[in-house]
Amino acid sequence: MKQLIYISKATLSIDFVVITDILMFAIPKNHDKDITGILVYDGVYFIQVLEGDENVLLSLFEKIKTDARHHDIKLFGMKEIEERDFKVWNMGYINNFTMIKEILLEVKKSELFNPFDFTYDEILEMLKKLSHRL
Ligand SMILES: Cc1cc2nc3c(=O)[nH]c(=O)nc-3n(C[C@H](O)[C@H](O)[C@H](O)COP(=O)(O)O)c2cc1C
Repeated sequence: MKQLIYISKATLSIDFVVITDILMFAIPKNHDKDITGILVYDGVYFIQVLEGDENVLLSLFEKIKTDARHHDIKLFGMKEIEERDFKVWNMGYINNFTMIKEILLEVKKSELFNPFDFTYDEILEMLKKLSHRL
């Protein structure tokens, strides 16, 4: 089983309705494909972690990459996992900006989120800490 993390920049027109749309679609789809994970939106960036079978993840990621609701997609990496870190969520969603800032301070000692500064493990640690508050 694999775990994949990417980040992207949301298009400027993203709002609550668009996010709801993504989630309403993604949650049942991911459930059918045995995919788990978390989606974080901090007002500018999306960070998503996806877990599941390698081929299923790769074909989903190919679709996600072409989605016009975001751009500048950067794959942080994909690693082999024994157990899922986010097993209870088919797509957990976090957009609590205050909470995101708090976790950033803990992980990076900075409130500024520059994802290009982060390693895979730092992003993963941040996502785990955020998911514990869901
Ligand atoms: C930030 C973001 C995250 C997404 N996450 C998922 C996801 O976890 N699962 C999913 O099925 N679609 C997700 N989507 C939607 C896909 O990009 C795409 O619209 C969908 O997979 C199309 O599926 P279809 O071709 O089978 O209709 C996401 C889109 C965005 C913009």
